[in-house]
Amino acid sequence: MEQKEIKKIEKIAKKNGIHHIDGTSILIINHDKIRYNFKRFTSHLPRVQPYYAVKANSLPEIVKTIYDLGGSFDVASYQEFLLINRLIKNLPLEERQNFIWEKIIYAHPIKNEGTLNKLNRYKPLIVYDNEIELKKIKKYAPNAGLILRIWSPNTGSVVELSNKFGAEKSEAVNLIAKAIDSGLTVEGLSFHVGSQCLNSVNYTTSLENAYNIFEEADSRSYKIGHLGHGDRKRILDIGGGFPVRYNGKEKRFKKITELLNNSFDRLFSEKEFEIIAEPGRFMVANSATLVAKIIGKATRRGKTIYYINDGVYHTFSGQLFDHINYTLKSFKKGPQEISTIFGQTCDGFDVQSQATLLPDLDLGDLVYAESMGAYTNASSTYFNGFPPAKIIHINQ
Ligand SMILES: Cc1ncc(COP(=O)(O)O)c(C=O)c1O
Repeated sequence: MEQKEIKKIEKIAKKNGIHHIDGTSILIINHDKIRYNFKRFTSHLPRVQPYYAVKANSLPEIVKTIYDLGGSFDVASYQEFLLINRLIKNLPLEERQNFIWEKIIYAHPIKNEGTLNKLNRYKPLIVYDNEIELKKIKKYAPNAGLILRIWSPNTGSVVELSNKFGAEKSEAVNLIAKAIDSGLTVEGLSFHVGSQCLNSVNYTTSLENAYNIFEEADSRSYKIGHLGHGDRKRILDIGGGFPVRYNGKEKRFKKITELLNNSFDRLFSEKEFEIIAEPGRFMVANSATLVAKIIGKATRRGKTIYYINDGVYHTFSGQLFDHINYTLKSFKKGPQEISTIFGQTCDGFDVQSQATLLPDLDLGDLVYAESMGAYTNASSTYFNGFPPAKIIHINQ
């Protein structure tokens, strides 16, 4: 962040009460950055319709900004589905139904029966990856359109998902066949290369796999996709995983998009395929800056320890669940020394960093961390009774 922006962040945090004796930390979300990320995504991947993965940050204000940009949505629960449904509640019935069909995907491969039951009347697009799920869908949500999630290599991605989801290549067409034979509609295939994917081979291998599965289904005369405007369009859902720069070093987004565009042209003609993606992190990570306050200080065995009014049970929960290291910086300048930073709870596990370079800080001094918009406040708790960070939206 440039100095001017840093000063602005400090001013906003002060204006919003961080210096109050009970003040929580403050998470400042800049909606201009979300708009920039959305446009960057669509300009580098012109054939891809982005379905924002709401789980990355489900604040209604963020969802609204993406809605206003014409975005679509990937939801992981009925609650997230309702969040989007609320945005369209004033549309006429038919438009609402079209929006649900064209702009929402329920991308969690496992759904409980109650969820399927409630979703059925919306005729949604939903994902499955195994036969037991298929039977559940047949029973509780037969009106849904199905997307089969195939296994994808997650090698070198910061967050691996391939241990949990994805049909094997060898069983994929049988799962498509079982769905179609039982009277359900299969609309396409999806995969997820793992979140913060720094290895483009995960994408290219998954695209080749998807291509082969579409071909095999064709050769066995299983028709994927519905007829729209006279053509049968099939959905290729390339999931999320698009990397962001946490340390200013990861430069892979542009390179990945070049490879993706080449593969799309080679394997998936525009006439036959509609390509969608489920970016979460990419849309929101760099939109948020966290400002926290020093609430305690000690020296132990010659090393300075700071306690801040946030921590791994709160906005820094991404350090555990999302495996990201956020760098805490100081607004104050001065000679720096390696310090330990603990969170506000009583738990010794609540350590933000054992080695951060900071100047000599006093109680009440402010520190900040950038790129804290994805998988951060989303997994914050009330542990020890401490409330989550106060959220401030700017450029909404
Ligand atoms: C099914 C699905 N889609 C999309 C995403 C978003 O991924 P990312 O934030 O890496 O873009 C996730 C993340 O866990 C996911 O599970």
